[in-house]
Amino acid sequence: MRMVDLIAKKRDGKELKTEEINFIIEGYTKDEIPDYQMSALAMAIFFQDMTERERADLTMAMVNSGDTIDLSAIEGVKVDKHSTGGVGDTTTLVLAPLVAALDIPVAKMSGRGLGHTGGTIDKLEAIAGFHVEISNEEFVKLVNKDKIAVIGQSGNLTPADKKLYALRDVTATVDAIPLIASSIMSKKIAAGSDAIVLDVKTGAGAFMKSVEDAKELAHAMVSIGNNVGRKTMAVISDMSQPLGFAIGNALEVKEAIDTLQGKGPKDLEELCLALGRQMVFLANKASSLEEAEKMLQEVISNGKALNKFKDFIANQGGDSSVVDHPEKLPQAKYQIEVPAKEDGVVAEIVADEIGTAAMLLGAGRATKDSVIDLAVGLMLNKKVGDSVKVGESLVTIHSNRENVDDVMTKIYENIRISDHAESPILIYDIVTE
Ligand code: URA
Ligand code: CA
Repeated sequence: MRMVDLIAKKRDGKELKTEEINFIIEGYTKDEIPDYQMSALAMAIFFQDMTERERADLTMAMVNSGDTIDLSAIEGVKVDKHSTGGVGDTTTLVLAPLVAALDIPVAKMSGRGLGHTGGTIDKLEAIAGFHVEISNEEFVKLVNKDKIAVIGQSGNLTPADKKLYALRDVTATVDAIPLIASSIMSKKIAAGSDAIVLDVKTGAGAFMKSVEDAKELAHAMVSIGNNVGRKTMAVISDMSQPLGFAIGNALEVKEAIDTLQGKGPKDLEELCLALGRQMVFLANKASSLEEAEKMLQEVISNGKALNKFKDFIANQGGDSSVVDHPEKLPQAKYQIEVPAKEDGVVAEIVADEIGTAAMLLGAGRATKDSVIDLAVGLMLNKKVGDSVKVGESLVTIHSNRENVDDVMTKIYENIRISDHAESPILIYDIVTE
């Protein structure tokens, strides 16, 4: 087999065979196929697309390029959740204890990563003592005992994806559905769960700006998952404005605690229930999505979900009294209000720009080596559709520096007040095949 012939085949719109895709990914991982040939192939895929079979094969070839996590020592159906990324996305912090409270094993491997706020691990580390440096044995033991544990990323997972994603970044081939879908799904599949629930975000703060693109990506990922034997479903959710009120690490922990008590922001609660009922259903704990939703509501109202969060924190060395006393979480030195300059209705809160405002305070990492300030961030006091009067606070800035003029300016530029607003849509679609 010669790479040049396979590039030509794809360039001409033909379908690559399983063994050809394996040859390409194995060769590329071992540096036997050079970047320039791989770039040409990525561009050919960009224009010619891939069939469902090719996408599934590409995904599995990337899974098999490195280590995979074996969760077979954990009892029950392991269901993982993945979000394509957004601003102030507190869902994992809520969902993990929520579904674990229904005896569904949550064996989560998580990262830190770049972004407007930290990743799930950074957020949890806002709780004094909490740590994810536990052994694999401890991890398995905790999930079997209490159904929930989080461990830091380790091992050499999907090296082919790492290499190819970096190459796509500099060859204008990131925005290709077959490549994005196989990239995301390869990482999820290598992480070892039996079933996967995807939260595909759309809007200003999302990777996929339009609903049509988000739907196409969701269908592509669900089809890959189901074709390689992992039950997969997706929710297409709004990320034109930030989710919930809190954007910041400790602030989002507090928001998660509120939501587990049934008094969180409505949009966050609704999305957690939408994702949660799919997780419960895929774990075979309910025979319908309606039944799954009832079960989730019940563990919120009877306090089991909140208790699960406490056990989870304590199991991993954290101070679980923060759940009843959230004032023990790191607090920023200054709380500064951003008053509305006019009467009207909030018509737009541009998610990515507001996320950047939180990052200016130090809530997220700009580069891999940045240090996060866990206490800082933003609390939205108004969301799209809310009416507002001059002088009322739009946002509370939680800052450890006194001068926040840059943050204020960014907020004013990105919250639009008008005389009317379209009512926001939170969930655009549910994708099951
Ligand atoms: N995120 C990924 O992990 N891969 C892509 O290709 C795009 C977004
Ligand atoms: Ca939030």
